Amino acid sequence: MALQHSIVVTCGKGIHDILKKEVADLGFNIEKVNPYSVEIKGDFRDCMYLNLHLRTANKVLLLIKRFQAPHPDHLYQVISKIPWEDYVHINGYICVTSYIQNRHIIDTRFGNQRVKDAIVDRMFNQHGKRPDSGPKRDQTVVYLYWVNSDCHLYFDTSGETISKHGYRRIPFKAPLRESLAAAIIKSTRWKPGVPLINPMAGSGTLAIEAAMIACNLAPGLGRENFGFMHLKSYQKEAWLALRDEAKKQVTNGATTDFFINDSSLEALRAAKKNATWAGVVPVIDFHHGDFTQVKMPKEQGIVILNPEYGARLGQVEQLSNTYNKVGDFFKEKCAGHWGYIFSGNPDLSKQIGLRTSRKMPFFNGKIECRLLEYELYQGSKKND
Ligand SMILES: C[S@@+](CC[C@H](N)C(=O)[O-])C[C@H]1O[C@@H](n2cnc3c(N)ncnc32)[C@H](O)[C@@H]1O
Repeated sequence: MALQHSIVVTCGKGIHDILKKEVADLGFNIEKVNPYSVEIKGDFRDCMYLNLHLRTANKVLLLIKRFQAPHPDHLYQVISKIPWEDYVHINGYICVTSYIQNRHIIDTRFGNQRVKDAIVDRMFNQHGKRPDSGPKRDQTVVYLYWVNSDCHLYFDTSGETISKHGYRRIPFKAPLRESLAAAIIKSTRWKPGVPLINPMAGSGTLAIEAAMIACNLAPGLGRENFGFMHLKSYQKEAWLALRDEAKKQVTNGATTDFFINDSSLEALRAAKKNATWAGVVPVIDFHHGDFTQVKMPKEQGIVILNPEYGARLGQVEQLSNTYNKVGDFFKEKCAGHWGYIFSGNPDLSKQIGLRTSRKMPFFNGKIECRLLEYELYQGSKKND
């Protein structure tokens, strides 16, 4: 069996429990859960597998070394003793990123530079040559987590974040990050086989993420480049085998209905293009019109809306009327369904005027949001 290392999978604020379940469902034992990450044990192949399959994660970090360093000079000394030539290509390119809370470091760029210097100086001393370095994350990425004296040094095997799933070539306005959309979908009662209606779909992220889950489409299948590909341990055949295995598991999702609607033709065009890139167009119906005119295709299902909430777009007063109409739409047209609103504005959400059965906290960047769940039945009760 390959050597087991600590692997830390990071995520956005507030979704660590959803990530924990996702990682466990992929067959890993969870060692620890932190506010922004989960920890497991695994090997290089596991890192590739996680990068290929995870929907709610930001990055997959493979521990190189854990050590104590009170000062940047200690940091440099320890890091320059690591045999980088065993891991990193001498003609490669290195980027260092970090999270640092150390009293000697005011600007994290200084910490990053010390790490980079330690690596390239070591390689130059050993081989008379050194890799290039800079801010691009498209090759070897080293990540330093340094709090007080406690240092964790990792390879960021994702490189560029895996919170983007590669299909969104046209974002339209205020799109949700794909990993957040996947986390929202996983928090609803939707599961493959249940119809999903997305009446204010924008660029379609929520419906596309659900459709990808229904079709068992691994988000990493659409991506050509990951950080792990630039390390010496990378074996292309092993990666291609994982991809082939994932491709064989793709289904046509035919047992599920997905319904995307938006009043903007531009949004609809973006959603169609994005669904095409994601490979889920055949399972989605696209409609143009006001959400109030949407007819539920089945008697039961999930209706999920992410209206604007005034933080980035439009004015709060104008939106108040829209939220009120969402309440009417839920009551009059969606009986038999579970309704969901994802919004960052609690005052606007109150305009819906229906009793929530669950309120789930999320963060969209720095904005605190809620996913509100409504059980919709004939004559859903008003509750102010
Ligand atoms: C915040 S965006 C949704 C973003 C989406 N979740 C994404 O990830 O791309 C809200 C969308 O609602 C649409 N919209 C606003 N008012 C509408 C209405 N009355 N009927 C249908 N769509 C509407 C807008 O055109 C916009 O695309």
